[in-house]
Amino acid sequence: MRAVTELSDFLDFGWRHLERGEAEPDAAARYPVLATVSPDGAPEARTVVLRRAERDLGVAEIYTDIASHKIASLRAEPRAQLHVWDADSQLQLRLSTRVTLLDGAGLEERWSQLGGESRLSYGAVPDPGVTIPKADAYDKRGLFAHFAVLQCRILSIELVHLVTPHKRAVFCETDGWRGEWWVP
Ligand SMILES: Cc1cc2nc3c(=O)[nH]c(=O)nc-3n(C[C@H](O)[C@H](O)[C@H](O)COP(=O)(O)O)c2cc1C
Repeated sequence: MRAVTELSDFLDFGWRHLERGEAEPDAAARYPVLATVSPDGAPEARTVVLRRAERDLGVAEIYTDIASHKIASLRAEPRAQLHVWDADSQLQLRLSTRVTLLDGAGLEERWSQLGGESRLSYGAVPDPGVTIPKADAYDKRGLFAHFAVLQCRILSIELVHLVTPHKRAVFCETDGWRGEWWVP
């Protein structure tokens, strides 16, 4: 990419990576790490699939099982971070978000668009994270009642780009995404 000197170009660069994550299975941003805080205050991070990244709305979406541990964490503390490292581009993205659970017609619409195989990820019996006597002692049922969509409203985006010289900037919703350069 040409040398980025404008904050707005840098933000565009970051968003192109997020949008690729939604559209392309091989993109680094397809598999962000979602970091939350457990109800007893411990950090917890796990890989997820980026299902949607919508710049105009400032929203990213993740699908999960309503019975998974992260739901209890998010009910206690709805702030969460999404982290992406794109080695090809030498770009790290950190999205600070506030998460709500989608309901109503939006939830049904997303369920109807999922293929049968993908639906199986939602509705494990017993619930995800429950102790079982052997590795395969569970069923995957694909239950709409277990399907949850995490709507992550993006509050800020931090980009770190390992070019020469290294570049780092932070963009916040509260300043209209104008952004500012930070020392890397
Ligand atoms: C490549 C990959 C993609 C994953 N995608 C998702 C996902 O989209 N949603 C999800 O809930 N878990 C996903 N998982 C499983 C999570 O990493 C995690 O193990 C699971 O959600 C339980 O986390 P929790 O106990 O903190 O809720 C994925 C795991 C891997 C390795």
